[in-house]
Amino acid sequence: MTNEQYYTFIQPYSDAKEILHARLNVLEHNLYNKSAAHPIHNIQERIKKKESIENKLLRKEKEPTMMNAKDYLQDIAGLRVICYFTEDIYSLVDTLKFQSDLIVIRERDYIRHPKPNGYRSYHIIVGVPVYCLDGMEYFPVEIQFRTLSMDFWASMEHRILYKTTREDKEQIAEELKKYADTLVIIEKQFAKYTGES
Ligand code: GTP
Ligand code: MG
Repeated sequence: MTNEQYYTFIQPYSDAKEILHARLNVLEHNLYNKSAAHPIHNIQERIKKKESIENKLLRKEKEPTMMNAKDYLQDIAGLRVICYFTEDIYSLVDTLKFQSDLIVIRERDYIRHPKPNGYRSYHIIVGVPVYCLDGMEYFPVEIQFRTLSMDFWASMEHRILYKTTREDKEQIAEELKKYADTLVIIEKQFAKYTGES
């Protein structure tokens, strides 16, 4: 994949991401909960780099071509929506699903079903219609919905354990799992003050 091919290839993914980002901003402006607070703290976005696309395809034992990227990767465009409370996440997801021109490609609820290491987040891959001169095509965008505390934990875990080979990795992983459990308790305590649970 040349640089030029890469930039042409990612353009509609980037457009799909922008469309979805704009829709989330609209929801943020409209979706007030009982305490009249905005549900979203911030939204981060990224397009997968050329090297990451190629490496991921190689890990999947596929040729690192654009055709394979289109066929096998659904996280080329990504949004990370950081909310305050779990409730905010579920109401945003519901409202987004109500938008009938979007298609839900995959959903993983790591909040109700956390990963064994303690990772919590709500992942949804949404097909976004992108219109161009010769018609419409759906492009996938992966959204990771997290609360501030889920994001705090995941960012730390990523920084501390990702791609590192260290002797005490298992020990640290065990400790991080405990902190994840503690954060769930703290988050529930905070939710009490707002009347959310
Ligand atoms: P990928 O091949 O990574 O896309 O895995 P998958 O298709 O099974 O998707 P999954 O929904 O499990 O995870 C995708 C993304 O979620 C990752 O790229 C990370 O950004 C995030 N993620 C998943 N698990 C963890 C974890 O244990 N720790 C952290 N820090 N992030 C995670
Ligand atoms: Mg994935």
